[in-house]
Amino acid sequence: MRSSDLLSIQFASRKCNLNGSKLQDPILRSSDKPVKKIYLDYNATTPVAPSVVDSMLSFFTEHFGNPSCDYSLGRASAEAIEEARSRVACLLGCDSDEVVFTSGGTESNNLAICGTLFRDGPAAAGHMVISSVEHPAVVEPARFMERLGYGVTVVECDSNGYVHPSSIEAALQKDTRLVSIMHANNEVGTVQPIRQISEICHGRDILVHTDASQSVGKISARVDELGVDLLTLAGHKLYGPKGVGALYVRTGLPLEPFLRGGGQEKGLRAGTENTPLIVGLGQAAYLSYNCLDETIARLSELRDKLQQKLLAGVPGLIVHAEKVERLPNTLSVSFPGTSGQEILRRIPEICASTGSACHSDFESHSVTLAAMGTEAEVMRGTVRLSLGWNSSEEDLDRAGDLLLDAWEILSTQSA
Ligand SMILES: Cc1ncc(COP(=O)(O)O)c(C=O)c1O
Repeated sequence: MRSSDLLSIQFASRKCNLNGSKLQDPILRSSDKPVKKIYLDYNATTPVAPSVVDSMLSFFTEHFGNPSCDYSLGRASAEAIEEARSRVACLLGCDSDEVVFTSGGTESNNLAICGTLFRDGPAAAGHMVISSVEHPAVVEPARFMERLGYGVTVVECDSNGYVHPSSIEAALQKDTRLVSIMHANNEVGTVQPIRQISEICHGRDILVHTDASQSVGKISARVDELGVDLLTLAGHKLYGPKGVGALYVRTGLPLEPFLRGGGQEKGLRAGTENTPLIVGLGQAAYLSYNCLDETIARLSELRDKLQQKLLAGVPGLIVHAEKVERLPNTLSVSFPGTSGQEILRRIPEICASTGSACHSDFESHSVTLAAMGTEAEVMRGTVRLSLGWNSSEEDLDRAGDLLLDAWEILSTQSA
C-alpha cells in the first residue's frame, strides 16, 4: 500500500461532530474535588477535537520522517503535509500553493506585515494602515516597521468596534502599500467590512491583509469572497493544536521571509516542518469546513438565548457590538454597578474572560472597548462569553443562572 493510500484511509474515517458527544467538556481539579467547568472562552482557545488528536498521533511515532527526505518515510510526511495544505485551502477558498504553514496567528501576522513592507529592500519607504481594534500581533509588527521609518496610520472604529470603509479610504496615502484590518474582533466579535476595504484598496494597487484568527471556523472566511491578498489563521482557535497556523499568500505576491535556511514552505518559512501539528491543522480545517453552517446556526441560537436571559435579568445590561454583525459565538456584556472580574471570581465553574486572553487585566487593557470609546465603568463590568462546539443548552442555561445570581449578590452588596 502506498503511503498516500494509508493517509486517505485514515482521513476518510473522520466525522464532523457537532453535538458535543465526543468532545469532552474539560474537567479541571480544584484543590480537593473535581469541578465540572462550563467553558465559555473559545475565543481564547479551543479544545483539540478528538479526531484532530487521532490524525496527529502516527506522525509522532511511525510516520516521523523528515518531509524533505526522498524515501518512503519522508514522502509519507510530505504527502500528509500536502493533504493538510489542500484541506486548509478548501476552507479558505484558495489554491493549495497559496497556503504557507507557520507557528500560529502571531507569526502569520508578522510575516504578512514585515514580509510585505520589507520585500523591496530595507531602504524602501512606505506607509501602512491598521485599525484601533487590532490584536497586538498586528499592532506590534506595525510599530516595529514604524521604528524602522515606515509610516503607520491607525484608523478609529465606531462605538460598535466597526471600522468604516470610508475611514480607511480617508487614511490612504500616495505611498500606502498595505492595509491590515482584522476580519473579526476577539473581544466583542465585530465583523469588519473586509470585502469593501479590499475593493477600495485594490482600486489603488494597495495590498490587503486580514487577521482572520478569530473568524476562520466561526464564519465564512473565504479569500475569494473577502478579496484579500493575505489572510492569517490560527490552529488553536478552530479545534486544532496550539503552535500552528497558516498564512494565505495570493499567487504571485512576493514576500520577504524572516526565517531563512533550507527553503521549506517555498522559501517563506525555513525549518523542518512540524508534520504532526500541520496534519492536525488540516484535520481541524476539514472539520470546520464540514460543520460551518451547522455551527453558525446552533451557536448563534444558543448565544442569543443567553443574551436574552441576561438582558431580562439585569436591568441596564449593555451588550457590546449589538448593532453590527458579530461572530455568532461571541457575547460581550457589561453588568452595571460591579466588576466583571468580581462576577467571574464568584463563579469558579465558569471559565470566561474579562478581556482578551492576552490581557486578562481588563480594567486597564481592553484595547477594543477603549477604542470603542466605552466608559471606564462599563469596561469594568464587562465579561466576554464565547461559545463553541461543546457548549450545550443545559450548560448555557446554568451559566446564565450563575451569572444572574452573582450579579444580584454583588450589586446588592455595593448598593
Ligand atoms: C485576533 C487575533 N490575532 C492573533 C492572535 C494570535 O494568535 P496565536 O496565539 O496563534 O499566535 C490571536 C490570539 O488570541 C487573536 O485573537
